[in-house]
Amino acid sequence: MTIWFGGDYNPEQWPESVWDEDIALMQRARVTLVTVGVFSWAKLEPSEGVYTFGWLDRIMDKLHAAGIRVDLATATASPPPWLTHRYPEVLPVTENGVRLQVGSRQQYCPSSPVYRRLAQNLVTAIVDRYASHPALEMWHINNEYGCHLSRCYCDVSAAAFRVWLQRRYRTIDQLNETWGTAFWSQWYGSFDEVYTPSRAPYYRNPGQVLDFDRFSSDELLDCFREEAAVVRAGSPRIPLTTNFMGFFKPVDYWAWASELDLICDDSYPDPSDPRSPMLAAMSRDLMRSLAAGKPWILMEQAASAVNWRDINVAKPAGMMRALSLQAVARGADGVLFFQWRQSDRGGERFHSAMLPHAGTETVSWRAIEALGHELDQHSDVVEGAVVASVAMVFEWDSWWSLEQDGVPARLSYLALLQAWYLPFFEAGITVDFVTTQSDLSGYSLVIVAGLFAVNPSELSPLHDFADRGGQLIVSFQSAIVDRTGRLMPGGFLGPLAGTLGVRIDEFTPIAAGTSAEVEGGIGSLWAERIVSIDSEILVRFTDGDLAGSPAVTRRRVGQGTAHYFATMPDPELLATLIQGIVAAAGIPAREGIPSGTEVVKRGTVTYVINHREGTVDVEVMERSN
Ligand code: GLA
Repeated sequence: MTIWFGGDYNPEQWPESVWDEDIALMQRARVTLVTVGVFSWAKLEPSEGVYTFGWLDRIMDKLHAAGIRVDLATATASPPPWLTHRYPEVLPVTENGVRLQVGSRQQYCPSSPVYRRLAQNLVTAIVDRYASHPALEMWHINNEYGCHLSRCYCDVSAAAFRVWLQRRYRTIDQLNETWGTAFWSQWYGSFDEVYTPSRAPYYRNPGQVLDFDRFSSDELLDCFREEAAVVRAGSPRIPLTTNFMGFFKPVDYWAWASELDLICDDSYPDPSDPRSPMLAAMSRDLMRSLAAGKPWILMEQAASAVNWRDINVAKPAGMMRALSLQAVARGADGVLFFQWRQSDRGGERFHSAMLPHAGTETVSWRAIEALGHELDQHSDVVEGAVVASVAMVFEWDSWWSLEQDGVPARLSYLALLQAWYLPFFEAGITVDFVTTQSDLSGYSLVIVAGLFAVNPSELSPLHDFADRGGQLIVSFQSAIVDRTGRLMPGGFLGPLAGTLGVRIDEFTPIAAGTSAEVEGGIGSLWAERIVSIDSEILVRFTDGDLAGSPAVTRRRVGQGTAHYFATMPDPELLATLIQGIVAAAGIPAREGIPSGTEVVKRGTVTYVINHREGTVDVEVMERSN
């Protein structure tokens, strides 16, 4: 078994005379898998119910003859102009009440029964025709759900939202109670009075906004499910997937993951951002976690530059290779690109591709060709597992809730997680992502950062984890509200306050651009006044109103330890504190990792990846703790 190598292939953008050259060059680069048909709806169904599959038959046959496997798309991501011309109600409406028009892509309301019916018709026709095609390796449902359009505020969406709410709350009284509509005269007399949370004069009801986030993610999932059901019925033995987008706020991938046969990710780290290797690693770790440890596929990345940043910095060939191998090291069994041949027209003509405009006498083509060959040498890691002993809790409810309007400080949930992920990444310690529902028994260290919205009963597994000998880290702005958005019953931190041995007295967020002094360093992003009830104080604030008050605490809990962080220590101080906690968790420490070098183990292979320019000499020592 080899690692899949290839990319999105859009032959419909080119005369058929180009296809033989495409295939010859794919073979030269050792392409094994191409995603076909993602944006082909208009070419496959030029008018309602009229299908033109001839071109797709021909390219599928050619690919098969060349031994190239196909990830065949259901082609529903971009409805053709005839569809919205005939059924304009399919066009989505933004938060500001603007109806989005044709001429780009993804212009459909996810709740639209018309869109869903026509998508089903198309998928049925495609599945009927290609289910037994010998080139078919997997099905690619739609594309990047919610990428541009994840929330629709039209009347059809409002009606669907009401149905969703009715299912959730059963009575309007229950909805009123949960959303706290006694506030600002928001009390509803019936479900008919409830709308999507479009632009309003001031802050919208937090319960309504959170439910709309959940509803919107669920509506997209329903679109996926409806297509998947058609595919499964007509093609039960072929795996199906759709492409995720890393840490993508609008869609709760935990709810989706078990519905896919294979987890796939699209990943476009910014070549000009020095943090890109760390950010990409984090996304890879999330994909592996969503796949429950099973292999996943890097479905899209750029060969060089994208075309959607203000300045599209070219990705150096070495970085393309390093980030590709990083994906393999962190559990990917496929490295694919958007796209095979660079378009010469349309909105993405300046986006790089495996085969650039300038052809094969180019640095980027040579790098692609070399990677295709190199991946052969990694076939022995395929299906090897990446084992992590550190887990970080990550949930969409908290992401949506923490970043709502009217909260104590505008914190970025991802920035918090990234700050916690960094010291582990730099120390070569692999991290899994989990939810409060996950089994924590395989981990020795668990980090809970910014877990803003959680029900009190869901916190006991965290207590039990520490009690059984785990090292638990809880950082500020966790367990602040329950999952309805109501302030945590019994006080902030809920039952975790007892586990941690602290009480939150008052939030004292740090003003933008400033920081708080603490023993041994500085704290940023956040500060708060906590009282240690029966915990040991490891670090104190040293200035201002908080001087002398605890910043980091530790409490023994059964066989383990629970730590609380009332601020975000600077990277150096954090790394020192983490070193101690890692040692207490018995996690082997890797020493001698130069800065800019990543170390990660998959199966029996240890990958050492240099993300800096030039060469680096590394002698990594593993010391058991
Ligand atoms: C996404 C899409 C592709 C393409 C790339 C460009 O990943 O799935 O169709 O638009 O972005 O970066």
